[in-house]
Amino acid sequence: MDVRTGFVVLLCLMGFTCADPVKFKDCGSSSGKVAIVDITPCTSQPCELHKGQSYSVNVTFSSAVVSQTSTAVVHGIIAGVPIPFPIPMEDGCKSGIKCPIQMKQQYHYLNSLPVKSEYPSIKLVVKWELKDDDKNDLFCINFPVQIVS
Ligand SMILES: *[C@@H]1O[C@H](CO)[C@@H](O)[C@H](O)[C@H]1NC(C)=O
Repeated sequence: MDVRTGFVVLLCLMGFTCADPVKFKDCGSSSGKVAIVDITPCTSQPCELHKGQSYSVNVTFSSAVVSQTSTAVVHGIIAGVPIPFPIPMEDGCKSGIKCPIQMKQQYHYLNSLPVKSEYPSIKLVVKWELKDDDKNDLFCINFPVQIVS
């Protein structure tokens, strides 16, 4: 561990909010490339999501296309079956992205992931897509989470 990492870990232990990059799988970002996925707070891998809490999602990606619009589609994959997962804001252009999206430009997509108290305590894979004008994925990421009480 270098000095900088040690300092960051120390701040985290002191209770500061720490965004750890989440291990994700690219599931076919045909119109862009994902650099970093941050979920806050998420201190373990997979992220533990507590019922009744909301989590910040920050996806850093670069676009390979021009697009006027961007629309988020989120699924929870449970035992291989994708189930639609409602998010409060589907419009990516109102989620930290300045539209129209330019080619070769880097963006931070910022949104929240609310975890309802009626969700079951299970492990699942979250599939988060952001679609361009042609319904191609600016990004498509899969990351595992554990829902806990
Ligand atoms: C999103 O993540 C990027 C890369 O880690 C970071 O530079 C940026 O400040 C973050 N934005 C917010 C609002 O947290």
